Amino acid sequence: MPEGPSAPWAQGGLDRAALLGWLQEDAPGRLENLWGWADGVRQRHVGDAVWLRGLVEISNHCARSCTYCGISASSPPVGRYRMAPEEILEAAEKAATYGFGTVVLQAGEDPGLTGPFVAEVVSSIKAKTGLAVTLSLGERPDEDLAAWRMAGADRYLLRFETSDLGLYGRIHPDMGGASDRLAQLCRMRGMGFEIGTGVMVGIPGQTWASLAEDLEIFRSLDVDMIGVGPYLESDGSPLAGGLGEALKKSAGAEQVPADETTTLKVLALARLVRPDANIPATTALATLDPAGGRPDALRRGANVVMPNLTPPRYRRLYRIYPGKADVHETADVSWASIEGQLETLGRTVGRGPGGRGAVDVGYGDRNWFKPQL
Ligand code: 5AD
Repeated sequence: MPEGPSAPWAQGGLDRAALLGWLQEDAPGRLENLWGWADGVRQRHVGDAVWLRGLVEISNHCARSCTYCGISASSPPVGRYRMAPEEILEAAEKAATYGFGTVVLQAGEDPGLTGPFVAEVVSSIKAKTGLAVTLSLGERPDEDLAAWRMAGADRYLLRFETSDLGLYGRIHPDMGGASDRLAQLCRMRGMGFEIGTGVMVGIPGQTWASLAEDLEIFRSLDVDMIGVGPYLESDGSPLAGGLGEALKKSAGAEQVPADETTTLKVLALARLVRPDANIPATTALATLDPAGGRPDALRRGANVVMPNLTPPRYRRLYRIYPGKADVHETADVSWASIEGQLETLGRTVGRGPGGRGAVDVGYGDRNWFKPQL
């Protein structure tokens, strides 16, 4: 398979029209080509290692009213929690014990997670475990972000969800219409964070053209991490009701479906436009297809899995959408099944922090990453 400028997906070969064409492609033979290219580019640029990031959902309080999300401020009543620093540290220590190189702290946009609170948690995790720390805490003032970076946070995840600003405004009614997320991502890069972003696939009102634009943004922003998952209806949310219906109607025949194949096309194209990015097999995809979602993603460009380390008593409350695949997977069980799945896929577990472009080339010392349960 040719690499370099002559490859069918190389710059120029994968322009806007080609992206649009691939997104709408449904000929099985051609899709096999797309999957093969994405897997080959993944293999050549980031190798066979799959990086495991321990996910800790540290708070489900949220000040925002995103119309798709099950833990938004306006969602039907949900028991709220915010983990204590000792509980967060304990979960991070689990990640270290399991041999994961990174812990991801994710939450709703929670003002109760103050700048100093998070900074303190980050520095104690760094001091006690040495793990890479990724934060995913929403839109925050630069002052907080800079303090967290100073405290040792390495990466930040903030999906821009859709590049269609009209649609963005409709699904984020309290954010003043226009998204500042791309600007925040750029500022965070300036602070020295590795930056991750992504989109939901099949948001009511999302068109093929806007999805092609999303991929162009992954390419031009040169992001380090890209997360894509299907949009899943959250019962009782405005987007699952009248708002969603109206938006779908306005997109008409251009409406993107929220299905597995479309999500996998976006994932494969993301790998082709950003060959050395870290791309997770997302929980949302595993929710849509519990058996095949993760392995299929790993065969079509993904190189990261994020096992959930949130204590089970909180996990069921972090219900951003129903049926979240990891709600019943305990860390130990998901660890065992993931490692087994990786072996059957001919993949290995990455060792170390696994930052952008990291290739784990040493497969010798497999004990390094064996869990000590
Ligand atoms: N369906 C799919 N993904 C969702 N997210 C939030 N709500 C939903 C939903 N209903 C995703 C968003 C957010 C990430 C943490 O979870 O993309 O950025």
